[in-house]
Amino acid sequence: MDLFFNKKQRMQELVEQLAELATAYYMTDEPLVSDAEYDLLYDELVELEKEVGEVLPSSPTRRVGAEPIKQFSQHTHIQRLYSLDKVNSLTELENWCNKILAQFPDTEFSLEHKLDGLTINLTYEDGKLISAATRGNGIVGEQILTQVATIKSVPLTIKFKGKIEIQGEGHMRLSVLEKLNQSGGEILKNARNAAAGALRNLDPKVTAKRNLDMYCYNVGYVEGKDFENQKQMLEFLKENSLPTDSYTKYYTSVSELTSEIEKINRSEMDILIDGMVVKVCSYKTRAALGYTDRFPKWAVAYKFPAEEAITTIEKINWQVGRTGKLTPLAILAPVNLAGATISRATLNNYDDILRKRVSVGSRVFIRRSNDVIPEILGNVDENAKSTEVMPTKCPECFSHIEQRGVHIFCTNSLSCKVQIVSRLTHFASRNAMNIEMFADKTAAMLIEQLNITSIPQLYELKEEQLIGLPLFGVKKASSLISSIENSKDCSLASFLYGLGIPNVGIKTAKDLAAKFFSFENVKNASAEQLLSVNDIGEIIANSIIEFFADERIAKDIDKLFALGVSPREEKAKESGGVFSGMTVVVTGKLESMTRPEAEEKIAELGGAATSSVSKKTDLLVCGTDAGSKLTKAQSLGIRVIDESEFLEMIGR
Ligand code: IVH
Repeated sequence: MDLFFNKKQRMQELVEQLAELATAYYMTDEPLVSDAEYDLLYDELVELEKEVGEVLPSSPTRRVGAEPIKQFSQHTHIQRLYSLDKVNSLTELENWCNKILAQFPDTEFSLEHKLDGLTINLTYEDGKLISAATRGNGIVGEQILTQVATIKSVPLTIKFKGKIEIQGEGHMRLSVLEKLNQSGGEILKNARNAAAGALRNLDPKVTAKRNLDMYCYNVGYVEGKDFENQKQMLEFLKENSLPTDSYTKYYTSVSELTSEIEKINRSEMDILIDGMVVKVCSYKTRAALGYTDRFPKWAVAYKFPAEEAITTIEKINWQVGRTGKLTPLAILAPVNLAGATISRATLNNYDDILRKRVSVGSRVFIRRSNDVIPEILGNVDENAKSTEVMPTKCPECFSHIEQRGVHIFCTNSLSCKVQIVSRLTHFASRNAMNIEMFADKTAAMLIEQLNITSIPQLYELKEEQLIGLPLFGVKKASSLISSIENSKDCSLASFLYGLGIPNVGIKTAKDLAAKFFSFENVKNASAEQLLSVNDIGEIIANSIIEFFADERIAKDIDKLFALGVSPREEKAKESGGVFSGMTVVVTGKLESMTRPEAEEKIAELGGAATSSVSKKTDLLVCGTDAGSKLTKAQSLGIRVIDESEFLEMIGR
């Protein structure tokens, strides 16, 4: 009995501790613990819940999605949910503000994003989330609590104990949409539908997979609390760990407000917005302005011009990338989309063409996505079928093609010119090896004239071979050779990026370098180790493992090293760590950990762990049975510490 009680008490403790950690994680940029520590506590809770056979109402384990439900029940909102009045131009918006200013001259306005998702009305009572409902007709909505509970940023408990209703928008980040669409499966046409569809799915497990977010923007009903203005209300939401959009600006000048709206660049944002909302800040003025039967007279939505358009596909070109992947590019009849003329759109692969039911001649919906190239949402004619046929040969070199998963590849990686050009130019590009003067044209010429087919051959080039080639004089030849030579000393991140590992962009390359420090470590990393890097999921981890497992690639990399390419080992970032700025060598046998573990710890605490003792070594950590490294360190006058001193330094 006692034991059971203890377990339940521990469950309660864990629920509270995990809620605190989650708040720090979602509300601030400074998580209190590492992901691994969080997972440990979470796993302990899961175990206890199994043993005790009970899940506490606020347990974060509920977030993974409960059992599917048969139908949504109805929920009556305490305070009715209003919609927003609209204006379609900045002039109309100015008029709206000026009318209010004529009546209330000191009015301050808030400016917020108009999020494009699904309205959610949260109810907390006694600090617990007891309901989450859709808007419905504003009076009665549908109960979607189990679905909303999967949104990790929505707290299951809050500090405030009175009964309260909070309105916000459930939405999907555009980066999440992109990731989901890349992972195969159903293509989600846009973030709004994906979020709304997930929240109204009877199976909360589906909702959980969609990785949604919520931003709260209004308190509808509240017991025992008065707000003076919008700032106070938003502050209150934050104090209660409720997620809010960090963008809210305040204006007393209408022209400053409208010029801010003109500056908004949606293509740089990770959230989908379809306009901006302007609200009167003061609650007193709000009360004086009142409501119509559908919307408040103290707020208005400015809608952006449409971001969707209809046009015709004139042609589908299959383009060959540096990995040999064939990607269909739709050439469109030019059309205006939110102020830009659009004539091309990506179609990710053949499956995508079939799923979207499009062919040459189809009328299609297009939408500006957060990429430069817009996306095709689907065929205007819902009953259409695609008549597009899959290519049978590489459109560039006419070699065989091969299907791998949903993509098709040209198999001729050694001599398909387009592939080689793009591999070489990618390798030479600024974020990669930064070989100046190496454009597409140079690459194409080197392939044609000197039969260059692989990256290592670049490092074997001689000035004499270049002089006299079209476009090359003595000076240019010598600059290119010295650029190539200079590139041998490169950062690990640039080198990893330059290799062109599928799905590894510069950010992932930097993350890999920061985590693993040396090329060998990256190459030998297990799937588990790779997955522990932020933003690396299974697709990227597999890409990396498959890439390094390819013998031809491994041979080319060895050749690059033999030719003098030498990526610098990354130094750990943590400034202020006890080994900050130090080069440390570990030698001999340690009792409490393995040598690699000690080296990882050194790196974590700001040092660079290397394997050989030299003048540059600052510290030698010496276990038992140390040999020549110890004598060398002593002869160089390097500080030597034993294991217990090392443990003290790392705080064990
Ligand atoms: S305030 C009384 N603020 O837009 C308060 N609504 O077209 C009324 N929306 O139903 C809502 N972002 O779902 C407000 N920052 C924001 C919003 C916002 C999106 C939605 C909301 C509303 C719809 C009206």
